[in-house]
Amino acid sequence: MDLLSSLYPFILGWLDLIVRWFHIVVGIAWIGTSFYFNWLDSKLDRNLNDEKIDGELWSVHSGGFYHINKLKGPPTKFPKELHWFKWEAYSTWISGIVLLILVYYLNAESIMIDKNINDISVFNAIIISLSFLVGSWLIYDYLCKSNLINNSLLFTISCFILATLGAYLLSKIYGSRAAYIHVGACLGTIMAANVFRVIIPSQKDMVDAALSNTKPDLQKGISAKNRSIHNNYMTLPVLFIMISSHFPFTYGHKYNWLILAAISLIGALVRHYFNLKNKKQHKVWILPIASVGMILLMLYVSLPKIDKMNSSVVNEDITFTEINNIIKYRCGVCHASKPSFDGYEEPPGGIVFDTSSDILKNLDKIKSQSIDSDIMPPGNVTGMTEIERNKIAEWIRMGATINN
Ligand code: HEC
Repeated sequence: MDLLSSLYPFILGWLDLIVRWFHIVVGIAWIGTSFYFNWLDSKLDRNLNDEKIDGELWSVHSGGFYHINKLKGPPTKFPKELHWFKWEAYSTWISGIVLLILVYYLNAESIMIDKNINDISVFNAIIISLSFLVGSWLIYDYLCKSNLINNSLLFTISCFILATLGAYLLSKIYGSRAAYIHVGACLGTIMAANVFRVIIPSQKDMVDAALSNTKPDLQKGISAKNRSIHNNYMTLPVLFIMISSHFPFTYGHKYNWLILAAISLIGALVRHYFNLKNKKQHKVWILPIASVGMILLMLYVSLPKIDKMNSSVVNEDITFTEINNIIKYRCGVCHASKPSFDGYEEPPGGIVFDTSSDILKNLDKIKSQSIDSDIMPPGNVTGMTEIERNKIAEWIRMGATINN
């Protein structure tokens, strides 16, 4: 029993690894097939004058030539095996939820809840999380079934405003990383539910109609088409959120929800450019606009930090002993080979500040987590002061020497 409880954190770590690996692999398969079929449909040669064939495409890959035909209607004789593409979506969503449980729900205290933002209980944090997942689908689905769907510009703007509002609310409920991940989880849930509730049922209806020689439900086909276009635009923000944990200057920013909205908008614009290009509409000006947007965003996030690093707020000389002490008391309680902070068996993220070379090795990370943002210490549990952050900033600016 003792062995089992000491193994628990390791088992959790390995489960995290396996499920995350799986999640990425099936996610690539899902988005890959979706990108492939989008591309395929746009590249079909449609000048065939064939009664039955809508378009054809030749390609060469994996040691062979492929000749693909898209039919105008259903096949006259059904093939022995018809391939559907749905398990990629379902398994991505299921593994995503398992990850949410493993990484966030089971560590809610340290990684979901930030007492400086909102002091909620673990139970409430999880209930709010589940409500967001279900709620975002219900609201989105309602909008798709309303008349708003007929006005695509108004529909897009409404969804964007609602998603930004969701991101804002989440950033006022959870710690910054959990807030970002929840926006991604809500979008991912909408995407998977689109496949499960609308796209696959519409394809089933098409197959049933073909088998019974009746006409498929036109409305179902239109809804499925709309939902797959929505999924197509949502992929870029969702993928950004999946990698965002590497970029603390995004999720750790004071207005992290606004930065997420801006990056999503830029991503969707780029996606829009390629979608139009596939339809042979070359709106080249979209790309420079997206690039300028990205540069402005970078300046907005970075310029204040340069000011902070350059304004010498600390006048006295800073010794390494002082820096070492700050790091030892504010960070070392968790980030040590033997952490003393309650509930920590292992140094989180494998990061330790035991020796001066540990500190030097991790300078960039210390800077990004504690100076450019205040992500660390989480929820400022160890009460790090602004003066201490400025001292570390100044010490790094002066060249981070350790000989005093
Ligand atoms: C209460 C314990 C605790 C304290 C105190 C603490 N950290 Fe952390 N730290 C964590 C946890 C938990 C993680 C893992 C977070 C995650 O994976 O999201 C982490 C992760 C990190 C990482 C790795 C981040 C990454 O994504 O690569 C760095 C760097 C870091 N902390 C630096 C610091 C610094 C610098 C301080 C002091 C100013 C500090 N931490 C104080 C708990 C703590």
